[in-house]
Amino acid sequence: MAEEIEVPHSFPAAGDVEGKRVVITGASRGLGRLLAHAFSDAGALVALVARSAEDVTSAAGGLPGPTLSLSGDVTDADFNEAVADATVSAWGGVDVWICNAGVSPIVAGPVHTDPTVWRHVIDVNLTGAFLGARAAARVMRGGGRLIFTGSVLGERPRKGLSAYSASKAGLVGMAKSLALDLAASGVTVNVVAPGWFDSPLAEMWKNDPGLSASVLGHTAQQRWGAPTDLAGAYQFLASDASAFVTGAVLSVDGGYLLV
Ligand SMILES: NC(=O)c1ccc[n+]([C@@H]2O[C@H](COP(=O)([O-])OP(=O)(O)OC[C@H]3O[C@@H](n4cnc5c(N)ncnc54)[C@H](OP(=O)(O)O)[C@@H]3O)[C@@H](O)[C@H]2O)c1
Repeated sequence: MAEEIEVPHSFPAAGDVEGKRVVITGASRGLGRLLAHAFSDAGALVALVARSAEDVTSAAGGLPGPTLSLSGDVTDADFNEAVADATVSAWGGVDVWICNAGVSPIVAGPVHTDPTVWRHVIDVNLTGAFLGARAAARVMRGGGRLIFTGSVLGERPRKGLSAYSASKAGLVGMAKSLALDLAASGVTVNVVAPGWFDSPLAEMWKNDPGLSASVLGHTAQQRWGAPTDLAGAYQFLASDASAFVTGAVLSVDGGYLLV
């Protein structure tokens, strides 16, 4: 008879992030701010990052747990290193780094896309995430979690978003490659790809009847994502329960990519 697997005394709780030291970029508003609330509510220590010092401090002020407010630009390599150093100096280390800052200008087509706009989108969404990953990898000791905010638009593009789609598709390739680079050090690297979320920032799309119909028509669950729908995926990937998950893309989109 085959030998039975030894059953462990306990299993890590999926999504338990209590006591984790978490950096979240783009945390001053939108989805990043929601993530900051969810992690703080769950007992994590949260370092919030965005360019506007005022917005970052105001967002941090609404959280129940310990916070750091760090303002600067994720496209600046030195700033990312300073975020890592500030978090280590305040809390002794970094367990989770969520590269979430992003921009998404809509441009009519290639002829109308000023090269500076193209470069800016790639710079913030892709290079900014790489620079965050680089800073995180330097200070993560004995393992860690890198999570990139991708997008379903990296896999299913829409008109006018070529730079954005390229940046989000690029994050997937980068995450897989970094997952290989960092596997031996116990750092996992994954992407969460949100679909369409019902939030103030999505109001413009929601109020456009054509776009709204197209979103619902392509979403298997025929609804927009609610503010409570997103954080669980990040918390799973940030928790001890996901130690064997690396180089993965977790879509949180109500089935947008299926239809
Ligand atoms: N909203 C959606 O439905 C959706 C769907 C799929 C994916 N996403 C992705 O989710 C992420 C967050 O998007 P969101 O919708 O929450 O956008 P948002 O409301 O515009 O927030 C963007 C955040 O990023 C910060 N940021 C922008 N450029 C930055 C830079 N160069 N350096 C540092 N921080 C910067 C902003 O603060 P400052 O301006 O003060 O810097 C802000 O905190 C993005 O990566 C986006 O592509 C969003």
